[in-house]
Amino acid sequence: MIKTLRRQAPGGGMLLLNVGNLTKPSIRKDFAVMKKQVEVITACYRQLGADLLAPGLQELAYGDDIINTMVKAAGGSLPLLCTNLEKHSPAMKAFRDYLLLEKGGRRILLTSLLDPAMKRKAIHPLAIGDPAASLRQIQAAVPHDLSVVILHLADRKARTLLQQVKGVDIAILAAQRGTLPQPEMVGKTVLLKNNNHGKTIGYLDWSFARRQPVKAALVELEKKRVDPDPRVEKQVAAVEAWLRQHYIDLEKSGRGADSKLTSTYVGVKKCGSCHAKIVADWQQTRHARAYASLQKKCRDYCPDCLPCHVTGKKNPQNGVGFLSPQKTPHLFNVQCEQCHGAADRHLQDPEKPYGALITPDTCVTCHTPQTDPEFSYEKDINLISH
Ligand code: HEC
Ligand code: HEC
Ligand code: HEC
Ligand code: HEC
Repeated sequence: MIKTLRRQAPGGGMLLLNVGNLTKPSIRKDFAVMKKQVEVITACYRQLGADLLAPGLQELAYGDDIINTMVKAAGGSLPLLCTNLEKHSPAMKAFRDYLLLEKGGRRILLTSLLDPAMKRKAIHPLAIGDPAASLRQIQAAVPHDLSVVILHLADRKARTLLQQVKGVDIAILAAQRGTLPQPEMVGKTVLLKNNNHGKTIGYLDWSFARRQPVKAALVELEKKRVDPDPRVEKQVAAVEAWLRQHYIDLEKSGRGADSKLTSTYVGVKKCGSCHAKIVADWQQTRHARAYASLQKKCRDYCPDCLPCHVTGKKNPQNGVGFLSPQKTPHLFNVQCEQCHGAADRHLQDPEKPYGALITPDTCVTCHTPQTDPEFSYEKDINLISH
């Protein structure tokens, strides 16, 4: 897709940029995984010929190790941009205050502003200057035809800043998750936002004659069949293999088990002798194939994915459930006990009352607006009832 856009851009006037926050907040913070993600995503953007990467909190807050990794992966050919950050550590010396790029005969000034409040979240000292003052100073000092600002500020703070500082043509919101389906105007500035972990590419066609966008879109990567770049595909495959081994090693090291709980998930094999028809019905649903979906994506060891695709990991306080693919293979998939509760006592005395009350809340912990935007309890309950 990037190749096609490049071909269409008159006089090579395409700008390709990434606004940072490359790693996804994980259920448990795993620095090795974060480092790997930063390394590979940065390297891929370099290979794709991106014009710049503007690191955010997730790259800057966790110490020089991650910053060094990013600088190394950028390899000198992908500029890293932080306008109002004091570059006090050797790793940060590689960061640029601004970029002036010549595209299709026009001078494009690029800056990236961090929120001084980020200092509180960082595990090492960060010195961040006033965003408005830094921006004014650079815009005044560097002659340009277009000013593009990346804002690592909460959306509300970013809008206030754009009212204070004039002369910005395009501003991109980078700190908070979500998207703006259409560009918005704040004064004379076009405001854009596309932070949904790579599900869409934000695209803007700019007219210098009219000083406004001609076309803007969020292009969905999964729906449109986008030709993958073989170099990127290779890196992604290598990372998936690395992640899988990493999680297997973690599991071997014995972290994550909990033995104080009194009830135990027993697995669907134990139900068939008395509830044969229900088990057969369940087997027809996608709940019975949820683990295979992770295997297909090579994420069958990933702690971020497992809780919704196995049994008894989502609410660990309710009993000893899924621990790991090796220890508890009988708890793959969204089984009976995920909805009804751990069944060890029910097996000992089946006539005794058993079973959690099932309400829409049972479902929406997994069927969230992100994972299943069209979920409706009234409609979907019929597809799984027995
Ligand atoms: C030894 C036979 C037996 C086994 C094995 C068994 N059940 Fe049951 N189950 C029963 C009986 C008997 C009842 C109560 C009567 C009925 O509703 O059929 C029952 C009822 C239930 C109910 C409904 C409870 C209620 O209050 O309406 C659920 C849910 C349930 N079982 C789930 C399971 C699950 C999950 C498993 C496997 C982990 C399982 N059962 C294994 C015999 C069994
Ligand atoms: C532990 C997480 C979890 C819970 C709890 C859960 N689901 Fe699901 N559900 C999933 C996953 C994961 C899939 C998709 C499986 C796949 O295709 O990989 C799914 C798929 C479905 C489907 C598609 C089934 C089909 O055969 O087409 C329906 C309908 C559904 N769930 C309804 C419900 C309802 C209703 C509830 C609550 C009573 C519920 N789910 C509770 C995780 C869950
Ligand atoms: C919060 C719960 C949750 C988490 C976490 C989760 N999933 Fe799912 N997943 C679901 C639900 C619910 C569905 C079913 C949605 C539907 O009806 O299409 C689903 C469906 C799927 C499907 C099959 C449907 C499809 O789009 O082809 C795949 C593959 C999948 N998930 C992979 C993953 C991977 C990989 C991860 C980790 C990165 C993950 N899931 C994490 C809840 C979750
Ligand atoms: C996605 C959630 C979900 C899963 C998975 C699930 N059930 Fe249920 N089950 C329900 C709901 C909802 C009902 C309806 C009664 C209620 O509201 O409690 C029900 C009812 C039942 C009943 C009582 C039926 C009756 O006639 O009163 C039994 C027994 C039962 N389930 C057993 C099972 C067994 C065995 C499995 C696994 C093979 C299973 N369930 C998997 C949600 C689930």
